[in-house]
Amino acid sequence: MSNRPIYLDCHATTPVDERVLAAMIPYFTEKFGNPASVNHVYGWEAEAAVKQTREILAAAINATPEEIVFTSGATEANNLAIKGVAEAYFSKGQHIITVATEHGAVLDPCKYLKSLGFEITILPVKKDGLIDLTELEKALRPDTILVSVMAANNEIGVLQPLASIGEICRDRQITFHTDAAQAIGKIPLDVQAMKIDLMSLTAHKVYGPKGIGALYVRRRNPRVQIAPQQHGGGHERGMRSGTLYTPQIVGFGKAVEIALTEQATEIQRLTELRERLWLQLSTLEGVHLNGHPTQRLAGNLSISVEGVDGAALSLGLQPVMAVSSGSACSSATTAPSHVLTALGHSEQLAYASIRFGIGRFNTVAEIDQVAQQAIATIQGLRKQKTLVQQ
Ligand SMILES: Cc1ncc(COP(=O)(O)O)c(C=O)c1O
Repeated sequence: MSNRPIYLDCHATTPVDERVLAAMIPYFTEKFGNPASVNHVYGWEAEAAVKQTREILAAAINATPEEIVFTSGATEANNLAIKGVAEAYFSKGQHIITVATEHGAVLDPCKYLKSLGFEITILPVKKDGLIDLTELEKALRPDTILVSVMAANNEIGVLQPLASIGEICRDRQITFHTDAAQAIGKIPLDVQAMKIDLMSLTAHKVYGPKGIGALYVRRRNPRVQIAPQQHGGGHERGMRSGTLYTPQIVGFGKAVEIALTEQATEIQRLTELRERLWLQLSTLEGVHLNGHPTQRLAGNLSISVEGVDGAALSLGLQPVMAVSSGSACSSATTAPSHVLTALGHSEQLAYASIRFGIGRFNTVAEIDQVAQQAIATIQGLRKQKTLVQQ
């Protein structure tokens, strides 16, 4: 048995599944061709592999293969969607709506557009992390060109009501983008039923490789325009130039294929593990579940703990488990998480938070070990605090 900490940070990233790696390997060496090379077999076999992943991704979200644009990940897909729509629909309007709990890869492109003169409305969320649909309706204006609401939150796992949002946007002919980085392969997604126009995807949250993602761009009913953000050889029908990264694309396809085959059983297994963890942790006083209790990713458990210092909690857990804490992981500063503060948490509660991201390779024994260690750490910190105060 390895003595490394138990990995429970599957919202940050996941290991590449062995089956995915096996599918990728030939495309680094003997099948190394450029999919854009049309004159020889090296190019053809690479192109065939890319086509296969396009088909897998399209089938996964009920789109067509021509609607898949490969990118380097969800960050690039979000940038392409948001800035691409802003530029393409500039003459129609300059108002964009998004949500306070979005990932930085959505909030930051919006902030950038604001600096260029666009107007950005950032919707609040309710205490359970869901948006209020009437608030969304109230925020819509004749010059609104884009609504961007994530499918599944990366900190609290909350699943936003995509179909209802899609309905509202389609009625008013406003483009609807969703960041589905945490959702692809984990929950059913259907761009037709949910009336989604643009969807960002990534491979590395679903046991695929890092550095590959995609943007779904609706071509029909209605056709959605995006202005390219990277110019060059005209790849991806001009929307995203750059030689396609065949091995990563093959891995992406395989990862999504496996996730879809195993989705129903995995949702059930992860829900059981999460409930098992929560059942044990909730025996402690002053431990709060963050986000909606059921409308969430099966593998997500986010808690906030009263009466402990966030940094001490994080340090105490580190030797046994790799989890994420309630401070902003992406920044050099240790500001409290913007997602947890958007739920209305105090600074103390936002800092003293643990995000458990349970995944494919976690076991019942690991969950029990993690629960015991977390309980012991919290009790130890509370005891220390009481002693100091005496
Ligand atoms: C919700 C969400 N959006 C976007 C991203 C960025 O994805 P990528 O790492 O593929 O650029 C992440 C990953 O951290 C995420 O969780």
